[in-house]
Parts: sequence; C-alpha cells; structure tokens
Amino acid sequence: MADYQTEHQRSLADPSAYWLERARDVHWFKSPTRGIDTSRSPYNTWFDDGEINACYNALDVHVENGRGEQPALIHDSPVTDSHTTFSYRQLRDQVARFAGVLRSRGIERGDRVLIYMPMIPQAVIAVLACARLGAIHSVVFGGFAARELAVRINDCSPKLIVSASCGIEPGRVVEYQPLVNDALQIATAGVSGCIVFQRPQSHWAMTPGRDLDWDAEMAEAEAVECVPVNSTHPLYILYTSGTTGSPKGVVKDTGGTVVSLKWTMSAIYNVQPGDVYWAASDIGWVVGHSYIIYGPLFKGCTTVMYEGKPVGTPDAGAFWRVIEQNRVKVLFTAPTAFRAIKRVDPEGSFLQHYDISGLQALYLAGERCDPDTLQWAQDKLKVPVIDHWWQTETGYSICANCQGIEPMPVVPGSPSVAVPGYDVQILDEDGTRVATGDIGSIVVKLPLPPGTFINLWGAEARYKSGYFDHFPGYYETGDAGFIDDDGYVFVMARTDDVINVAGHRLSTGAMEEALSNHPDVAECAVMGVHDELKGQLPVGLVILNDGCTKPHEQVKAELIKQVRDDIGPVAAFKLVAVVDKLPKTRSGKILRGTLRSIANSTEWNMPATIEDPSVLEDVTQSLRSLGLAREPS
Ligand code: COA
Ligand code: AMP
Repeated sequence: MADYQTEHQRSLADPSAYWLERARDVHWFKSPTRGIDTSRSPYNTWFDDGEINACYNALDVHVENGRGEQPALIHDSPVTDSHTTFSYRQLRDQVARFAGVLRSRGIERGDRVLIYMPMIPQAVIAVLACARLGAIHSVVFGGFAARELAVRINDCSPKLIVSASCGIEPGRVVEYQPLVNDALQIATAGVSGCIVFQRPQSHWAMTPGRDLDWDAEMAEAEAVECVPVNSTHPLYILYTSGTTGSPKGVVKDTGGTVVSLKWTMSAIYNVQPGDVYWAASDIGWVVGHSYIIYGPLFKGCTTVMYEGKPVGTPDAGAFWRVIEQNRVKVLFTAPTAFRAIKRVDPEGSFLQHYDISGLQALYLAGERCDPDTLQWAQDKLKVPVIDHWWQTETGYSICANCQGIEPMPVVPGSPSVAVPGYDVQILDEDGTRVATGDIGSIVVKLPLPPGTFINLWGAEARYKSGYFDHFPGYYETGDAGFIDDDGYVFVMARTDDVINVAGHRLSTGAMEEALSNHPDVAECAVMGVHDELKGQLPVGLVILNDGCTKPHEQVKAELIKQVRDDIGPVAAFKLVAVVDKLPKTRSGKILRGTLRSIANSTEWNMPATIEDPSVLEDVTQSLRSLGLAREPS
C-alpha cells in the first residue's frame, strides 16, 4: 500500500500526471494525452482529448472481460417483499435495449432526460441508457413534490421524462402520476413524452399521445451500442439546494467521473471487482449516483439497491439482514440511519440473528457524524466506522480515511484527512489562512480534481460567483470547520442557509418561498434546529397579514401542507409558529443567526444592529411553544 502523505503530495504537485496515470485504469475509445486544462479557470476541463462512454465502463467492459455472469445489481426490496438479481450481461442487455427505446423517441447525444423514479432497477437502467447514448440524465428525488419537479423541468428542459406508477413508503403508496401531471401543468418548458414503468401496486392511467408504456416500448426496441463522447461531455445534471429557493444544476463531466469514481472504489473503500458494495441511499442524491450506480459498476462490484428503511421494514434488523443475505462487504449510509436503528434497538439485539462477519467497514456521510453514533456503530459492528465528508458538487469525498491507501486512526468527530487531489485549507473572512485549530471557511485550493462539478447547468455566472469569487483561487465549500495538528479536518456547520435533514440537503430559502406563497402570510423566516434523529429539522416563524381572521391552528396546518405540497414530504416541515414581529436590523434584515441561536438554545449576544430588542422576547415564547428555545439549565 502506498503511504497517504506521499500519495496526497504527488496528487497536488502534478495533478495532470497523477490523474493521467489513474486514467489508464479505465476504458477509453481514444486515450487522453492531456490532464487538466486550467486556461479558463475555474471552468477547468479534464482529459479533453479523450473519448469515452460511462455506460461502456459500467457494463460492457465487464461482459467483455469475463464478468458477464457475475451479479451486477441486486434489488433488495422489503417493501414489495422481492429480491431480484441482474448479472452484468442481463443489465447490459436491458440497458442497451432501453437506450434503443430512448433513441426511437428522438433522444441523442446531449439531449436531457429527466428521471423521476423510485428505488427500482428500471431507474438504474434508465440512467445507464442515457449514458450509453451520451444523453444527459437528471434524476429528481421521489420525495420532492410537483413544484420542485417543475422547477427542474424548466431549468434543464428535458425532451423526455422517465417515471414509474408509484413509489412505496412504509404504510403508503406514493402515486407519481398526479405529481408529474401537476409538474407538467406548472412547467413552461415543453416535454415531448413520458415513459412509464407500471408497478403492480398502482396503475398510471396513460395520457394518449404523451405517455408510453415501458414494457411495450422495450418489447419493440432494438439494442444499441455505446456512443463515444468527449471526456468533457456532461454525464448528468443533479440539482442541489443553495441559499436561494432556486436549486443549482450541478453538472458532471464523463471522463472525470469515470476515472475518479473507479479510483475511489479501491483507494477509499478498498473493494475489488466481485465484492458486494451497498450504499443505503437513494438514486436521487449524489451518493446514489456515485455509489449505488456508477462507482461499484465501474469497478466490477455487485451493487445493492435497497428499497426500504433502516427501521420498520420490517424491524431494526433490516440492515443486518441485507448484509447477511447479500454478503455485503462495505456499507455506506448516513448517520441518521444508524441513529434510527439505535433508537429502536439500543442494545443491538437484532444483530444476534444475523451473520454480518463479511462486513469489512461502514462508511458514513451526508451530515456530521456525532461521536456517540460512531462509537455505537463501532461497538456493535466491530468494524472500522469511517466518517467521510463530501458534497453533490464534488461527487466523492473531499476528506476520508482512505482504507485502500493507508488506514489511519479514526478520530471521532472528524472525517479524517484530505483525499488525494484536494488541497483543503481554512480561511478567515479576509481570505487569510487561520492558525491550526482555528475555525473558518473550509475551502479547496484550485484546481479541483477530476469528477468534481464542471459548471452549473445554464448558470455559468452563478457557478463562478457562488463558489469561486469570495475566495479567489479557491473553491468555497459552504462548510465551516477547522484542521488540527495532525491534518484531521473537522466539519462543524454550514456557512449558508442550507440545512441537513436526515442526510438530505435542503434550502430554508425554498421553504420561505413556499410559506410566502400562502395568501395569509406577510413575512416569514425558516431556520434549522437540532434534532436527535434527523440531525436538523426546519422551523418556521410567520407573520400573518393584518386582515387574517382564521384561527392560528388552521393557518399553521395549511402552512405545513403548503410546504409538503410545494417541496415535498422530505422537507419534514412540521414546526411553525405565528409571531407578531421578526427581529430585524435597523436596515430591515431579519436576524436569522440570532433566531437560530435562540431556537437551538445556544449562547447568543444581543446584536448591536437590532432595531427593537423587545421582539426577541415574543419570538422566544413562540419558539418555546414548539418545545424549542429551552431555558439554559
Ligand atoms: N418518496 C416519497 N416520499 C418520501 C421519499 C420518497 N422517495 N423519501 C422520504 N419520503 C417521505 C417519508 O415517507 C416521510 O413522509 P411522512 O412525513 O409522511 O412520514 C418524509 O418524506 C420524511 O422522510 P425521511 O426524512 O426519510 O424520514 P423518515 O421518518 O421516513 O425516516 C430515516 C427517517 C432516518 C429512517 C430515513 O431518513 C433514512 O433512512 N435515512 C437514510 C439516510 C439517507 O438515505 N440519506 C441520503 C443521503 S446519504
Ligand atoms: P450533499 O450535497 O447533499 O451531499 O450535502 C453536502 C453537505 O452535507 C456538506 O456540505 C456538509 O454540510 C454536509 N456533510 C456531508 N457529509 C458530511 C460529513 N461527513 N460531515 C459533516 N458534514 C457533512
């Protein structure tokens, strides 16, 4: 094994040489001779004279190299009581055929296809079929509602939508058709059709001239070959939350994604071809893109796609059952999933019923892992528990304990050290490096390594202004934290209005927009408060219009419904209070930082700029009515 320091230093000293060497490990139709081009920094490109196809690297290459009969994808679905395995050959054939369906419906290289699907194999097939054609997929998480879907349709103007009749949440079937219909009503961009996979749990009533049946189309289709694309060609757009209500369409290139993700499978996760890898996430998030679909398949692993929850499907032993039954070697999930298991089964008694001895390591990401949860997981599973830190924008971890390079001691509370390719630093507001141990903005010195975002879809200026202008020469992660004497990074909080609910990144700005759309709301503020299970929960404070005579309880119920209908159930917006005034500065800005501190019962100082300090008393009382803003004990 290479040692970490040497590897990290080599990656920073000559990024092009370092990554060109790693690029030899993937299949190219035309091998690249150039590494990075920084002439338009921060709009950098990787391997720009190479030609590649991501689907070929995920499937065809393995069939051709003798892995055709190995399981590629296991769909483990306790909510439908089914377990289905696709070999590499079967998956390749299905994908090639679905690519034929897409082509017969006019999809070519560069066209966008929006995928709004539950956790079923057809979602993976749709994603890889897009990659096969060089079409750009944009997957939208099933827990987002019609308005969020419409915003994404308008932004990336897909030619087609691929969907399914329903998703299945414990205790309820989520019908997709009303959501897609509503989204298409709201959206102004024209979509030429929807391809629908009918599930037995619910029937999508087809709209003639618009909707096409998955099975019928597949029966007619011809398999198509992979289309080579330039390395810099966009592979996908994935929307993520920012400070404002309008989501950011993070664009990933093809070559950089293939090279980096394949490399991470051995360097970070220490898995080999044939190993079983399970990312318990959703294909609608970046973790799902990188580690349910692309990474494990690039590496020739077997990937597990789990349609269920950590608890309740049927019990808190669900994860251990999946590990045993599918011989999982590496599990990757969010700390919130472990908090959910720990809450129901603190003793870990369900573990006695399963043999999880094949598990080599647990990886956690999506939110800060509290040391208690890390300790609990370590005690119960008796394998290394590795917190690693990353973002939709980077596609894989910025900091991790790289098990395939040099396993390092685990320090609870820290996602360890910078991954090769990332020069992580801490800066103060003026852009000066802070002393070791001091808190500041976490930034990455440019250039970023391959596989990180190359742009924001249709928003080139926002890409630069949102991430690179504040600290010239650096990528601003939006997280704050510090680095200790040993180079361990500690990620403590966001520097913007993004909150993290059950590992899901959400924008308080988007929730404020949804509340403002209610006719009785004059003004509002939404902030994140600490929650034992989900990490954070949103809480809203609203001022009603003068003429509003409705009982407050009724308005509150309507507001909760409004956020659920506009953004989706995933927002978990259930805490709202009506107030007379919001604390503001003399220039009229809402003092969100102070509100956050009060709600979270953390220390705060009276802001010098506050217009009317007495407002804080009323607001504190309202927050107390929600069980927040506790008196200091
Ligand atoms: N489609 C439709 N609705 C969805 C959905 C989907 N794909 N995913 C979640 N929802 C709904 C849930 O049913 C729930 O609805 P409810 O308000 O009617 O109960 C709501 O959105 C909130 O969901 P969630 O945040 O998942 O909370 P939960 O209480 O259902 O489960 C956990 C809590 C911790 C068990 C769950 O969040 C979990 O398993 N997290 C794993 C971590 C993860 O996947 N992170 C992603 C990044 S790695
Ligand atoms: P997303 O883009 O949805 O993956 O969310 C990325 C954000 O989640 C980061 O900017 C962090 O705020 C948070 N995050 C992800 N992983 C971690 C981690 N291991 N520790 C602390 N915060 C994390």
